[in-house]
Amino acid sequence: MLNQEIEVLPPPHVRNRFHHGAGVLILALNAIRHRIRGYRTPRPRGTSRLKAALGYDRAVFDNWQSHYLDYFPHGGGFENRQVLEIGPGPDLGTGLLCLAAGAASYTAVDAHRLVTPRTGGVHADLATLIASDFAHGHERLELQARLLHAVEALHADQEGPLRYHHLPDFDLSPLAGQDFDLVLSHSAFEHLTHPRRTLHQLSSVISERAHLVAEIDLQTHTRWIRDVDPLNIYRYRSPLYDGFRFSGSPNRFRPDEYLETLESENWVDLRIYPQRVLDPEYVARIEPSLDPAFRGDLEHLGWMTIVLCASRKGERSWKKPEESAS
Ligand SMILES: C[S@@+](CC[C@H](N)C(=O)[O-])C[C@H]1O[C@@H](n2cnc3c(N)ncnc32)[C@H](O)[C@@H]1O
Repeated sequence: MLNQEIEVLPPPHVRNRFHHGAGVLILALNAIRHRIRGYRTPRPRGTSRLKAALGYDRAVFDNWQSHYLDYFPHGGGFENRQVLEIGPGPDLGTGLLCLAAGAASYTAVDAHRLVTPRTGGVHADLATLIASDFAHGHERLELQARLLHAVEALHADQEGPLRYHHLPDFDLSPLAGQDFDLVLSHSAFEHLTHPRRTLHQLSSVISERAHLVAEIDLQTHTRWIRDVDPLNIYRYRSPLYDGFRFSGSPNRFRPDEYLETLESENWVDLRIYPQRVLDPEYVARIEPSLDPAFRGDLEHLGWMTIVLCASRKGERSWKKPEESAS
């Protein structure tokens, strides 16, 4: 699929009343389950299945790379970038891929400690597989040694190019003063408890040449209802929805709110586009039964996953670097 090609999802059967009731039940059950079991590994496939995990990480990484290249064609990609990933999930395969692609460092921040010292072996195996994917012969051995060294330092709590910070209330202020220049995220922005605060705090951890590339899932998350009623989470008024919220449940932050917040935080060259959308006729039949706060913009309502790109300095250019330098 090309970057900005759009997948139109097949419209499910419209059953507004039934799905409204079923959704409330699911919200309540999820809130109870979360209170009992805490946050669980969110991916369909766990790190125990190494190749599947790497396949997933590789798909996320390849998507970032193509969105970024499309957004900033002459920027040199990941080369020498100080990468910050928001919400990496249960392994740092994406981080190892960034380092293999030339990033100077990779730092992940997460509200849940999904990466633990027990995942050391997984990361060593991922490093070996990634090295053989990226290089051959002598270069492969060098890359493998570099990645393994990064993994060892991470799990020994030593300074190295691969870093992980568990921030339970997702307060980024301990990282203030860092100079990240590429902020990446996949299926995590929609979980931020305070998206405005996080976007505000990002300003104090990035350099003036920073870029942002984030893929965001705006669809209902819980299995079954996700497919039969993709807009289910937008049916409920805030007092009810917020009553069942927990760290990790979708925040219902909308595309225009991302744009407005990024703009007010001095990001420029904002670009937003959908990857997966709902059929407009289907959206028109669901919209009247949604919470009034989410009605009114049929096009954006149909966006189920979006890509958000932004630049700190406005250096995004269609010109080659030599031309734009003059
Ligand atoms: C659906 S997972 C996505 C993980 C990974 N990026 C991927 O694509 O599979 C959501 C990620 O967001 C993190 N997360 C959940 N709730 C959060 C919150 N309230 N604040 C910050 N991160 C959160 C999770 O711990 C997890 O890393």
